Amino acid sequence: VAAQAMATPCRLRLLLVLLAAVAVAASHPAHEAGGGGGGAGGCGGGGDGTRILIKGGTVVNAHRAEEADVYIEDGVVVAVRPNIPVGDDNVRVIDATGKYVMPGGIDPHTHLEMEFMGTVTIDDFYSGHAAALAGGTTMHIDFVIPVNGNLTAGLESYKHKAEKAAMDYGFHMAITKWNDEVSREMEVMVKEHGINSFKFFMAYKGSLMVTDDLLLQGLQKCKSLGALAMVHAENGDAVAEGQQRMIDLGITGPEGHALSRPPVLEGEATSRAIRLAKFVNTPLYVVHVMSTDAMEEIAKAKREGQRVIGEPVVSGLVLDDSWLWDPDFATASKYVMSPPIREAGHNKALQAALSSGILQLVGTDHCTFNSTQKAFGSDDFRKIPNGVNGIEERMHIIWDSMVETGKITVTDYVRVTSTECAKIFNIYPRKGAILKGSDADIIILNPKRSFAMGTRTHHSRSDTNVYEGRKGKGMVEVTISRGRVVWEDGNLNAVPGAGRYVRTPPFGYFFDGLDKSDAVYRASLRAPVRRGEAAAA
Ligand code: URP
Ligand code: ZN
Ligand code: ZN
Repeated sequence: VAAQAMATPCRLRLLLVLLAAVAVAASHPAHEAGGGGGGAGGCGGGGDGTRILIKGGTVVNAHRAEEADVYIEDGVVVAVRPNIPVGDDNVRVIDATGKYVMPGGIDPHTHLEMEFMGTVTIDDFYSGHAAALAGGTTMHIDFVIPVNGNLTAGLESYKHKAEKAAMDYGFHMAITKWNDEVSREMEVMVKEHGINSFKFFMAYKGSLMVTDDLLLQGLQKCKSLGALAMVHAENGDAVAEGQQRMIDLGITGPEGHALSRPPVLEGEATSRAIRLAKFVNTPLYVVHVMSTDAMEEIAKAKREGQRVIGEPVVSGLVLDDSWLWDPDFATASKYVMSPPIREAGHNKALQAALSSGILQLVGTDHCTFNSTQKAFGSDDFRKIPNGVNGIEERMHIIWDSMVETGKITVTDYVRVTSTECAKIFNIYPRKGAILKGSDADIIILNPKRSFAMGTRTHHSRSDTNVYEGRKGKGMVEVTISRGRVVWEDGNLNAVPGAGRYVRTPPFGYFFDGLDKSDAVYRASLRAPVRRGEAAAA
């Protein structure tokens, strides 16, 4: 039987992997998935012997959609082709007729159990993962925040937080101060801990914000390590001025948040970061692009050939700032995040930029605070913890607002919600694809069913949801996480500890050819000019 025949070599390899794992167990953290990114292959997934055959669906990868079956064993995709025979009784068959079978979502931007603005985000690596899986996301990359600037201490703390992980995850690392030790630690993070991206906050003056001097040092270090520099682009000095201006005007409510940090400050910082990255000749990733101003800076840089990646987030794509003027503080404060959700119009422009490839992948910036935490700022908007939900809603909202409206194709949907993230962070095709050898992170979406969102049904611990009452087309009926069915027809089976750390190797495709453009630059200098005796010699 075909399925049976495919199983045997995989099991053998699994046994060898297990034997090898025993030998090296002492030197490797228990939570890590084996191997780096790059090529798919090997059995390195769930390894619990589960065998699943998804029959009759439309399998969608970023490069094409096809009518095919998908056979999964031990957490890995073993075959993708039409008419795979069922094999034996121990194979679980899932009928996907009339449905889309797609790679699970990968959210490039989340903050689980993050200490921020005097409190801690309410979703941790368990509740955040439960929410993600119920919404069709099977991996995310979270931001490690250093402890007093120390990266190693930050990583230790996040490793501990992630022990309850129910799905696979990776880490970016924030850089909040600069000295020789930080520079050395960045190297250790890349070479020993599988972190290939560093975030620089150009805002949050007095806490996370970095100066241009630090940003420049950081960009250079990132380039030398083959790590991607990421920026939160807002002019933090000007934001502080804007906040004081609002307070002086007696504006203390959530609307003051939007008024104090207008799009021009996001555009300025985006432009500055892009220009500094150009000066260093290193790729730049701009997180949570919220305004037309920032998007236009990215478009311009791309037109000029610069390697810039723009990440819109769901809130910026589909919400507008009118909520911040709601007379009810609890309602208005839910929508406080930075950069702020903008006036209507920016959202549609960001959607168009996503459709046309100016912006490349969709995150959430899932950073949830409940209504009690949001109330810390009831008499001063500067104290409202910044952040909104989205990890559970992203896949449905992007399907409904972008695919159902004809703005993007089904293959583009897979690209912007999964594949592009896997490619940028150098873990493709192990993640972000349904190919032989890829991890079996798969969703089955029924385009005929409808969804409704809100606190009554969501899996986040928060008592609020910025998408409360939102309805739309397209329902993720099944989520498979490394070969285990974890979400099926409304039933969630998120297992704490089942998630694995996914190392992200340096020198992803964005670094290809940088040595050549550096050489062209050096050759263009026509310097040093030899003068005096040197010229005569
Ligand atoms: O408001 C936000 N975005 N909170 C999370 C921290 C950040 O800036 O990404
Ligand atoms: Zn940010
Ligand atoms: Zn964020």
